[in-house]
Amino acid sequence: MRNLTQSNITDAVLQSIDGAQSPRLKQIFTSLIRHLHDFTREVELTHEEWEAAVDFCFKAGQISTPVRQEFILASDVLGVSSLVDIINDKAAQGATETSVLGPFFIEGSPELAEGGDMIEDNPGDPGVVFGRVLDPDGLPIAGALMEVWQTAANGQYQAVDPSQPEGNLRRRMRTDTAGRYFLKTIKPVSYKVPVDGPTGDMLHAMGRHAWRPAHIHFKIKAEGFLPLVTQLFEDTDTYIDEDAVFGVRDSLAVSFQPNHSEEEAAKYDLKAPFWKVEYDFGLRKA
Ligand code: BEZ
Ligand code: FE
Repeated sequence: MRNLTQSNITDAVLQSIDGAQSPRLKQIFTSLIRHLHDFTREVELTHEEWEAAVDFCFKAGQISTPVRQEFILASDVLGVSSLVDIINDKAAQGATETSVLGPFFIEGSPELAEGGDMIEDNPGDPGVVFGRVLDPDGLPIAGALMEVWQTAANGQYQAVDPSQPEGNLRRRMRTDTAGRYFLKTIKPVSYKVPVDGPTGDMLHAMGRHAWRPAHIHFKIKAEGFLPLVTQLFEDTDTYIDEDAVFGVRDSLAVSFQPNHSEEEAAKYDLKAPFWKVEYDFGLRKA
């Protein structure tokens, strides 16, 4: 333990976790320590660089609030959140692919009004999203709880934008007896992830932009099924292939095509042109 060198310090730290509380915890810490040490040796980290990393964590903690989770954001822009999604989607077997939760989900959104209107006074291009929530056999799931949230036309979430009324563009709803849902909303817009904290500085230092392609978030829960956290993306968005948080999947990119039929628009109590997205979500058994 005293004559530590670059090559034996890793084993010394690994020995120290022999009494880890569970085999899984030991596996995770063993790998973490190995990779961290290898990384430190590989780049020959200087004291100043190590201090910069500590300072990043300090600043991330300082700027974090219940609705501004800077560590989640850092994980997102480094692709870790999406990697976790992809690893755990392996067994999806026809269920909808997951995508990052992001930092702006708020528990307990208002109930969607009868008729499905989430637009209210929001400016933007109106349209409809509808479809079903299905089990692995393709059978409808009645009474599934769906929570939905998106940015306003200014590219901001209500969670962090005091100019928006409480509950704006976030709702909860339940599927009907045939597993159907229906939502009237504005077309989402592309927006930048927050860059006013240390993650923004990191993006800048890496020579990257902060844009996400336009999307709507969904969190769906039903008894006997695993919760689904995902997003639907506008497939022609400028940033569809360069999402700052690597959340886009082919199966989640959909067309928000304008529809010019006044007759069809009237069915939804809208004026043409409007857009229409039909999407069925699939849940996995718990
Ligand atoms: C979002 O889509 O809301 C989001 C996801 C990751 C980081 C920032 C925002
Ligand atoms: Fe988002």
